[in-house]
Amino acid sequence: MITFHMERITEEHRKEIEDFFKAYWGDDRMVYSHGEYICSELEGFIAHDRESIVGAVTYYDHNRTGTREIISLDSLIERKGVGGQLMELVENDALSNDFQELCLVTTNDNVHALSFYQKRGYRLVEIKHNAVDQCRKKKPAIPLTGTNGIEIRDEWLMKKTIVKK
Ligand SMILES: CC(C)(COP(=O)(O)OP(=O)(O)OC[C@H]1O[C@@H](n2cnc3c(N)ncnc32)[C@H](O)[C@@H]1OP(=O)(O)O)[C@@H](O)C(=O)NCCC(=O)NCCS
Repeated sequence: MITFHMERITEEHRKEIEDFFKAYWGDDRMVYSHGEYICSELEGFIAHDRESIVGAVTYYDHNRTGTREIISLDSLIERKGVGGQLMELVENDALSNDFQELCLVTTNDNVHALSFYQKRGYRLVEIKHNAVDQCRKKKPAIPLTGTNGIEIRDEWLMKKTIVKK
């Protein structure tokens, strides 16, 4: 049985989390059409098994608009609850800090993420056509096609309103 525990990212985790992103994505720089982020420097939560990080979510707080943006979400042991639990942690923490909205960007090839996020209450609010072409100019390593063979071109912006119960 796979067991893992969740914890908030602290300064002690910075090197391990940087290695996690480099191993998984090649580097820890996330480039969107609206901005760039170094994931290993962001706030977030990790899932840990006995040996290493098996999942991570990072976010950036837009305090002016009261929106928390999910910058990255990755799970190495899929369909065991890691991704869902990381999202729950971020959302509960956002509520505790008086954020009213969560937002995130995914890309048009990621139909799995589209389903995953919709099941968790996120709605597609904007499609930025060819936005990834712009991002690729800043980060040429962004692949041309996704694992499913779909050309990666557009950004999908998704949002969820959260309320205290
Ligand atoms: C999207 C992603 C984070 C999901 O992570 P995950 O760990 O598989 O997420 P979960 O296990 O919580 O949920 C996935 C599915 O497994 C199901 N599941 C959870 N625990 C399960 C279990 N023990 N047995 C069977 N199914 C289970 C969930 O119900 C969920 O299905 P649903 O979406 O239809 O409700 C992961 O697929 C991933 O890292 N993808 C690559 C990176 C990526 O695309 N990130 C998003 C970019 S914006």
